[in-house]
Amino acid sequence: MAIIITNGKIVSSKTVITKDIRIVGEKIENIGSNLAKAGDEIIDAEGFYILPGGIDVHTHFDSEAGGIAADTFTTGTKAAIMGGTTTIIDFAEPVKGGSLRRALEEWNKKTIGKTYADYGFHMTISHWNENTYREMEEMVKEGITSFKMFFAYEDLMVGDGSIYQALKRAKKLKALINFHCENGDIINVMRKEAISKGNIEPIYHMKTRPPSLEREAISRLLTMAELVNTPVYIVHLSSKEGYEEIQTARQRGLKVFVETCPQYLLLDKSYYIPKGNDPFEGAKYVMSPPLRDKESNEVLWKGIVNGKIDVIATDHCGFNYRRQKELGREDFTKIPNGAPGVENRFKLIYTYGVEKNIIDMKKLVEVISENPAKIFGLYPKKGVIQRGSDADIIVFNPKGMSLIKAENQIQNVDYNLYEGFGQYGRLQYVFLRGQLVVKDEKLLDLKPVGKYQKRSLTIEENS
Ligand code: URP
Ligand code: ZN
Ligand code: ZN
Ligand code: ZN
Repeated sequence: MAIIITNGKIVSSKTVITKDIRIVGEKIENIGSNLAKAGDEIIDAEGFYILPGGIDVHTHFDSEAGGIAADTFTTGTKAAIMGGTTTIIDFAEPVKGGSLRRALEEWNKKTIGKTYADYGFHMTISHWNENTYREMEEMVKEGITSFKMFFAYEDLMVGDGSIYQALKRAKKLKALINFHCENGDIINVMRKEAISKGNIEPIYHMKTRPPSLEREAISRLLTMAELVNTPVYIVHLSSKEGYEEIQTARQRGLKVFVETCPQYLLLDKSYYIPKGNDPFEGAKYVMSPPLRDKESNEVLWKGIVNGKIDVIATDHCGFNYRRQKELGREDFTKIPNGAPGVENRFKLIYTYGVEKNIIDMKKLVEVISENPAKIFGLYPKKGVIQRGSDADIIVFNPKGMSLIKAENQIQNVDYNLYEGFGQYGRLQYVFLRGQLVVKDEKLLDLKPVGKYQKRSLTIEENS
């Protein structure tokens, strides 16, 4: 028996077409007209959009870096599914100087049989030695075709020499490296200076991470990428300054993939100023890079519109306000960095992008599903509705309105960055590999059916 989704508007980055979709088992068997056969189950999607399942390539579930993340792979992927995201790519984190293989084994234990969405890993590289060099190749064979390196965070950052060597290795292996771009050395000094002057409140998290330090790290990265002549991926771009640096490098012919996140499009640095009685409330927005000014919000939206920003991911890294964020009440440098959002991406971008006429549905699909799949070696298995692809499908009803409230969320965090924000639309159906996982905004009572995704090479496809 097959499932037929009929009368819906199927969206890709290029087209919106009204056709039937025939799902058999885990796959899209056919797209066309009058596909129903006797015994098929028919879903009428009149008035609804049909989108490829969202792909969030930047989450931190079960993370141990900078505090124990509030969401496990189980709660985090449940929230993802409820937000129309059927695949996530998270980060495996080797201990400093430790084996990548060991980290993969540990992350397999955290995930196999425990996720509600399909998933893959980027491998974090926080230390460079001969083992790292060797194991990068092993990881690529395991389908981990992307890595992550940091210019910031005392425990994670590596020097330029290590980054240069890793880029050369990645080029050889046709793998892609994600970069967190902020000048960590200077930030570390500025943080100590702030504390020594008694500047302990959350707002100093923002003040000690100015946008010029994002621009500087981007400039350094792109200089190295140019030397090595290999593409790079910049995560969570937050500022106009960083954006402009990327455009300059592109004019020299560099291939740079750029990601931003809903928080850098929709929120600004005024959130660090306490509004109610709690002077510490800004801690909810302590993430790196920090929120910027409204001008940066606008520049990043423009970047999405004109195709200069490729991906919107969430950087979901949830810590509870009570007991976790609060560790930094007397010292902002002790506030765990990161914020939740995996559940909110799709409707936020629909509401504040499409409904506001900044982007159309095709662009929405491009940045939340198609580009992430293409850049990270999941396409065309995922990221598109076409014959032979995985039947990861969202049936989205643009009508209806709700308010975002932490008390209603699935993600395992006690606050929401967008508390009280209105959002449009309803998830009528979400399918993961042909299996119905959400029906009319309700998560069906299923086992964790998510599967590890062995990804193909990234650079070959992209250059
Ligand atoms: O503050 C953040 N973003 N925490 C998660 C780790 C990272 O930098 O991506
Ligand atoms: Zn561990
Ligand atoms: Zn980062
Ligand atoms: Zn992150």
